Amino acid sequence: MLFDTFKLGALELQNRIVMAPMTRVRATACGVPSASGALYYAQRATAGLIISEGIAPSLQGQSEPNVPGLYNDEQQAAWTKITDAVHGAGGRIYAQIMHGGRIGHPEIHGLQPVGASAVAAQGTVYTSGGRLPFVTPVEMTVDQIEDQIAVFVSAAERAMAAGFDGIELHGANGYLIQQFLSDNSNMRTDRYGGSHENRARFAVEVATAVSDAIGADRVGVRLSPGGKFGDMNESDTEGLYRTLIGMLDPIGLSYLHVLETASDVVNDAIRDKWNGTLMVNPSFVDLKQMGTVGARFADKPNAARWLARGADLISFGRYFISNPDLVRRLREDLELADPDLSTYYSGGDEGYIDYPEWSPVNAES
Ligand SMILES: Cc1cc2nc3c(=O)[nH]c(=O)nc-3n(C[C@H](O)[C@H](O)[C@H](O)COP(=O)(O)O)c2cc1C
Repeated sequence: MLFDTFKLGALELQNRIVMAPMTRVRATACGVPSASGALYYAQRATAGLIISEGIAPSLQGQSEPNVPGLYNDEQQAAWTKITDAVHGAGGRIYAQIMHGGRIGHPEIHGLQPVGASAVAAQGTVYTSGGRLPFVTPVEMTVDQIEDQIAVFVSAAERAMAAGFDGIELHGANGYLIQQFLSDNSNMRTDRYGGSHENRARFAVEVATAVSDAIGADRVGVRLSPGGKFGDMNESDTEGLYRTLIGMLDPIGLSYLHVLETASDVVNDAIRDKWNGTLMVNPSFVDLKQMGTVGARFADKPNAARWLARGADLISFGRYFISNPDLVRRLREDLELADPDLSTYYSGGDEGYIDYPEWSPVNAES
C-alpha cells in the first residue's frame, strides 16, 4: 500500500511516501536557497511528495541563520529553479511555510520577534553571534495578527508563482502557529486566547486566508499535538486538538500532517475528527533528542502500522537525508544508510548532495 499511487486533490502521487520537511540551513545570509538545493531535491524526486525545508515567510519570521525565505523576487527565482528540477525528475513538491514567531532573534534579522504573548521561550537559539537565550517577543495586537496572516498569504502566493505544487503551514514544533495553541506561550484574554476555540483561531484563520488565496486543495497543515519542542506545553491535548481539527476539517485542506507526539488516544481522536487526507510521520518524536542514538526514525514497520490505523500518506525525515533513493530501498528491502548528524546543519554540499544511491558495492562497504 505504501507503494500505491494516491490522488491528492488534483495531483496524482506516484506513491504514498513523503519526504518530511527538514531545515538544512544552506541558504545565503539573505535567505536565497543555494544552487545545490535543485540537485538535493531532484535526487529525492521518487518520493510521492517532497515537502521542502521550512521557509521563512518574512525576515521577521526567520528562526535561524541561513534558513531560506520566500518574500522577495530573488528568493522566488531561486525556488523556481528547485521546483523545475523536481518536476523535471518526475516529482512533486510543496513548500513548508515556517514562521518562527518567538523562535528567532534580533541578532538573526535585526527585528524584534512577534508572538501570541510577551513570553520568551526557555532555551537558546543559534545566531551568527553564537547561541543566545530567546528574547521576549512583542505581543501582537489584533491588527498585527492580521498583518502576519497576510505575510503567510503572500509567501503562499509566491510559492505558487515559484512552481510549488502546494504549501504546508508549519503548525508544529513550537513555531508561531503552535505558540497560539500552547498554554504557556498564549496568555491572551481576547478572542485569540483562553478557550480551545480561541487558541485554535489563529491556525484556522491562517489556513482559511491561504486557502482563499491559492485553493484549499493546495494547502496542508502540520501539527505536533502535545509536542514539547520549542518549550510548548498543551495541558489538554485531546480537547484542544479535537476542537482545532473540527475547525480545520470544513476548509477542505489538501492534508493534515501529524507528528507522532501524542498518545494513541489523541491520535484516534484526530483520525476520528478529520475527514480529509491524513499524513503521519511515524517517528518516535522526542524532538529534543532529534538525531541522537536511540531515537527511533520513521521506518517501514511503523509506516505499515499507521497505514493500518487509517493514515493515507507517510512521511520520512532523516532516512531521506542519507538515502536519496529511499523509495526504492523501502520497496526492495535494501539496507538503509544512516545519516551523519554532524552535517545536518553544517552548510555546504557535504552530507547534502553526496549520499549515493544504493549499489551492491556500497552495500558491502
Ligand atoms: C535536520 C532536521 C531538520 C528538520 N527541520 C524541520 C522543519 O524545517 N520543519 C518541520 O516541520 N520539521 C522539521 N524536522 C522534523 C522532521 O520533519 C521529522 O518530523 C523528524 O525528523 C522525525 O521524523 P524521522 O524519524 O523520519 O526523521 C527536522 C528534522 C531534522 C532531522
